[in-house]
Amino acid sequence: MNGLDGIIAAETGLSDVDGEAGRLIIRGRPLDELAAHYRYEDVLALLWETLFPESEHGGTLATMLGQARARAFTHLDAADARVLELPPVDGVRSLLGRLADGEDLTSALDLVAALAVFTPAVTRLRRGLDPIRPDPTLSHAADMMRMLQARAPEPEQIAALDRYLVSAVDHGLNASSFTARVIASTRAGLTSSLVGALCALKGPLHGGAPGPVLDMLDAIGRPAAAGSWLEAALARGERLMGFGHRIYRVRDPRADVVKGALEILARAGHIDPSRLRLAEAVEREAIAALARHKPGRRLQTNLEFYTALLLEALGFPREAFTCVFAAGRAGGWVAHAREQALRGRLIRPSSRYVGPIPGEAA
Ligand code: ACO
Repeated sequence: MNGLDGIIAAETGLSDVDGEAGRLIIRGRPLDELAAHYRYEDVLALLWETLFPESEHGGTLATMLGQARARAFTHLDAADARVLELPPVDGVRSLLGRLADGEDLTSALDLVAALAVFTPAVTRLRRGLDPIRPDPTLSHAADMMRMLQARAPEPEQIAALDRYLVSAVDHGLNASSFTARVIASTRAGLTSSLVGALCALKGPLHGGAPGPVLDMLDAIGRPAAAGSWLEAALARGERLMGFGHRIYRVRDPRADVVKGALEILARAGHIDPSRLRLAEAVEREAIAALARHKPGRRLQTNLEFYTALLLEALGFPREAFTCVFAAGRAGGWVAHAREQALRGRLIRPSSRYVGPIPGEAA
């Protein structure tokens, strides 16, 4: 099966991915411009304009999002022992499923806020620590960091997380956003769309890759071991996590934005320089090894590779990386679901039947 390669399944005014040029445009602006100058809530205002006309003012939206984080905190009493035994992404999914389905701006903000609140809360609860109540007056990224580490974050940590959330916010018709659109096309509601999208995101071929990237770096251990380790993995037929993409034939532009955020952290002493050197050696060797094993396929670094290092340096545990990705992508999922519900039709493709026909010999 072709995985719907090249099929146009939606018209969107949200974002465009040019895989040959290595360019991502969100609402007419290049990603690097947004990542350098916009907070996550400002990108939400941009992404949601025309979809929720009352959200067009970034300042107002930031205030409303802070209030939504405070509301999300009240759902944490449902984070019981059974929920906390689940992997964090499944725990967060079960908490997210508690939110009522809706179509309005309040429902949209509640969902984005919930992912930002549940991720640090579930992380802390699994460590036996109390969750930290949101501070609605802070920026979204600052509050997320504060809820994770229970103290005021450094400006570099806030800037780095903001850049990451912005780089993750939307990316064409990726598998999880397509899932959100399929569900929205039945008019099921925003919570249903986002729960489905989160389920699609968690797989290692989509948003589940950054945790395994760190496992790979740990297994390699030192730059000099990268070449032989990667060669052996490819010889066993394994995929190298953090490399390859359906659309990009050149380096994923999001990888550069995230690497820039890592450099902000490195300058402030928040990351061990030897970890960065190891990652750079692994990246170099992996691209060379992939070119030898899959000639002509042009497999390059994707978003997830440097994301792994960034989220580790910010103090998120690797098993919760997909939840942080979801906290960023939530703004895009809402926009896709809303765009589909407002302007699209029921998504109902066809299949070709290749099974037995009644009356034909087996
Ligand atoms: N390591 C080794 N081989 C790879 C890799 C990789 N990372 N990526 C693709 N290939 C190979 C495949 O094995 C396949 O080889 P074959 O033709 O000999 O069978 C060929 O390249 C094409 O692979 P496809 O699966 O058709 O490529 P597709 O475009 O469908 O897959 C995907 C894209 C799933 C991202 C793939 O590159 C992959 O598995 N990467 C590793 C996981 C990863 O990093 N996921 C995060 C993606 S980014 C994101 O979702 C935010």
